[in-house]
Amino acid sequence: MPIIEDFDARYLLGVDAMDVTHREFVGLVNRLAASDNAGFAAGFPELVAHTREHFAGEDRLMEACGFPAIAEHRAEHARVLGDLERLASKVVSGRARLARAYVVEQLPSWFDLHAATMDSALAARIKGSVRVAAPLAGGGLDKTGSTG
Ligand SMILES: [Fe+2]
Ligand SMILES: [Fe+2]
Repeated sequence: MPIIEDFDARYLLGVDAMDVTHREFVGLVNRLAASDNAGFAAGFPELVAHTREHFAGEDRLMEACGFPAIAEHRAEHARVLGDLERLASKVVSGRARLARAYVVEQLPSWFDLHAATMDSALAARIKGSVRVAAPLAGGGLDKTGSTG
């Protein structure tokens, strides 16, 4: 049984770029959790690299849409990526126990909360930006005096 379940029911946010990345993330976590020691050691760097891109991509989205809580969301990404990078150096030197415990015991609940709060807020902001952008493209700004 995967340790992160029901992706479609629980984690879809309605922003394709985020949903695709999150589905990949969950797949990597589930695969690592089920792997033997050799498979874990081989696969852990992939999770770290994927997470680095995942967070960098969201950081760019936050900048692009003017996400208000960008500092907090960025700091949370940096904290988790820092954890993963420290664990990766242990895995490289043959000490994978802590990394496995982190993947199995902490990442699923971290993702659950992060997706429901910070990522969900970012997705809402992105979707809101699209709706706001539409009338701007079509004119209709008479009463705001945009062009006079
Ligand atoms: Fe995310
Ligand atoms: Fe995030």
